[in-house]
Amino acid sequence: MVMVKGIYIHIPFCLNKCNYCDFLSFKSKDIDRKKYVEYLKKEIKLYPQYEYNSVYFGGGTPSLLEPKDIKEILDLLIIKDEAEVTIEVNPKTVDYEKFKGYKKAGINRVSIGIQSFDREKLKVLGRMHNEEEGKKAYEEARRAGFKNISLDLMFSLPNQKLSEVRSDLKELFKLKPEHFSIYSLIWEEGTNFFEKLKRGEMKETDNDLEADMYNEIIEAAKKEGYIHYEISNFSLPGREAIHNSSYWRNEEYLGIGLGASGYCDGIRYKNQVKFKDYYDNIDNGEKPILESEIIDEEAKNIYKYILGLRLLEEGVLPEKKFIEICKKLEKIGLLEKKAERYILTKQGIFLANDVFDEFV
Ligand SMILES: C[S@@+](CC[C@H](N)C(=O)[O-])C[C@H]1O[C@@H](n2cnc3c(N)ncnc32)[C@H](O)[C@@H]1O
Ligand code: SF4
Repeated sequence: MVMVKGIYIHIPFCLNKCNYCDFLSFKSKDIDRKKYVEYLKKEIKLYPQYEYNSVYFGGGTPSLLEPKDIKEILDLLIIKDEAEVTIEVNPKTVDYEKFKGYKKAGINRVSIGIQSFDREKLKVLGRMHNEEEGKKAYEEARRAGFKNISLDLMFSLPNQKLSEVRSDLKELFKLKPEHFSIYSLIWEEGTNFFEKLKRGEMKETDNDLEADMYNEIIEAAKKEGYIHYEISNFSLPGREAIHNSSYWRNEEYLGIGLGASGYCDGIRYKNQVKFKDYYDNIDNGEKPILESEIIDEEAKNIYKYILGLRLLEEGVLPEKKFIEICKKLEKIGLLEKKAERYILTKQGIFLANDVFDEFV
């Protein structure tokens, strides 16, 4: 029987490095990208033929690839008819024609990196686009026929006021995407933001203000008819991200490309992070795996809990091994029972990392 899985394909190229981002990505030339696509195709062929119910081109900036490149990769995969096939796009790299090309290549969902609708904030973040270009990318994706669009935003930005989060939400809801993700800024080591933080030129948002922002987002989204189905993810009914939900359900998926992570045949692995090692392994006919971990029953149960609790509607089934911890967390108001499953309470959502730590 052919096994059904998701597949994540990493595209490690960006126009420019944003000031807050530590995702694995580099500036590139056309020729680097062409070579990389050839190796992605070779890597795919090192795996058995699975059948895929979700495909996700993530990055970096996958929209630096041409529709023709995307089609060549998709043509190698057996993709189920109803599969979700997503590409992450940066507004500065797309137009109507490119969206049309992606659609024709088999993409049926786009995730646009908007981050904010505030011109000044976009500049501080080091984004290459302004708010008009962000909106235009969304409109052109719609015009090209995409009926499933997700937008990425961030909050808790340097010096951001609650009123500025409100303005971003107002602009977001005018567009009415089927899905949006909104991440609280993480000050990642090695980024320009982190250096400024260390030098005292920037400061982190006060915890209470950050909680107020998050609460505002949750309440406003609810009013607009969005379901808060994961800590940072909101969707209109029935439009939850299929690919990402499979991570949170602890399902197996293939990870392809430089630095990609995967979970396959009971093993979690991470690919090589240097181009030379990645290319050398593939030239030798080997999977370009840097490190891997066998997931035994105990590790699997822990993953199942800490990932599953992220799904706010679905949660996890009570299990003997964790029942005492769940009861304790229920007593202090961080977990609650819903249809015989445990889910995070609203307070639990705000303290999610503390809840997850209890299971590790
Ligand atoms: C790979 S990027 C998405 C696509 C594309 N590269 C872009 O930025 O337009 C994934 C998302 O992660 C979020 N992100 C990246 N770095 C972050 C950080 N330090 N803190 C919070 N969110 C972050 C951003 O919202 C970003 O859109
Ligand atoms: S946020 Fe997106 S565009 Fe910016 S550096 Fe990270 S991956 Fe690249």
